[in-house]
Amino acid sequence: MTRTDDDITNKLNSSLSQPQVNNDGGIRHFLGVEGLSRKQLHTIIDTAEGFFDASGQLINRPDLDGCTVMNLFFENSTRTRTTFEVAEKRLGANVLNIDIARSSTKKGESLRDTLWNLQAMTADIFVVRHSASGAAHFMATEVTPDIAIINGGDGWHAHPTQAMLDMLTIHREANKPFEELSVAIIGDIKHSRVARSDISALKTLGVPDIRVIAPRTLLPKGIERYGVKVFEKIEDGVVGCDGVIGLRSPNERLGYPRMASSSEYFKTYGITPERVALAKPDALVMHPGPMNRGVEIASSVADGEQSVILKQVNNGIAVRMAVLSLAMQGQRAFRENR
Ligand code: CP
Repeated sequence: MTRTDDDITNKLNSSLSQPQVNNDGGIRHFLGVEGLSRKQLHTIIDTAEGFFDASGQLINRPDLDGCTVMNLFFENSTRTRTTFEVAEKRLGANVLNIDIARSSTKKGESLRDTLWNLQAMTADIFVVRHSASGAAHFMATEVTPDIAIINGGDGWHAHPTQAMLDMLTIHREANKPFEELSVAIIGDIKHSRVARSDISALKTLGVPDIRVIAPRTLLPKGIERYGVKVFEKIEDGVVGCDGVIGLRSPNERLGYPRMASSSEYFKTYGITPERVALAKPDALVMHPGPMNRGVEIASSVADGEQSVILKQVNNGIAVRMAVLSLAMQGQRAFRENR
């Protein structure tokens, strides 16, 4: 039997008893936004806000002084890997970027053995991106209790720091609280870990109107049960919304393109100026990147006045500083109390 993305997500959500929080509610690992409370998500947002000075520039703070962070990216990344490294250095950590392409995983060494060996070199935090859904949970529950695990994206399952940088961007740029917002997510919802994590974070933060816009073939079966409104026509779905989040189709993870033709997709689901004009006049345009210009989004929109796409990247540093700092606090508390 082929396992669907829903099977994987349901299994992960039901079998995990929140290994990411300590008994006092402090974050010890950051594996996903599912199961975290509104207060915990606001703590991440508020902590991230604290890394900007009065003029909006990022500050340095030695929260990870003396700590060692290893970045383990088994999948390619530009934004996530680099902003984690910038965040770690701004917090004063010793940073090691493990070159997976040249590591002994290429000789067949298992994930567990790789981690045990890296653990023996002493580290405080592993930041991991992996193509397997559940890889970060596996590390947190089965491999190493003494190291904080931060999920930099696992398969189709979750991309929690992306979700939180999206929430920080909405918090900073929208002129309303989460409880009054209408947000539309457009694209390959079915195969997007960003969509899963964004929907979960938006729901937890109290956004009353979450819309997903995609052809049925790119929607997970039964998505309505997550309390989102489904639209197959983009012109209907974006009307009056405060934020539009475009998605990339992860063809490299699927091994084949999900759409018959890029030009046909752009014609039907591309984020164009005409379609953005149907949303609120000050609606935010967001995209996690990397963007396929002329497929998911028109260049004039991506680079236009309503786009906050590069602000998302900058906010990613603050959010990753916040998550690293909170996870290290939680890890220290765990070590003291066991
Ligand atoms: N948004 C995002 O995860 O981008 P990267 O794949 O470049 O990290």
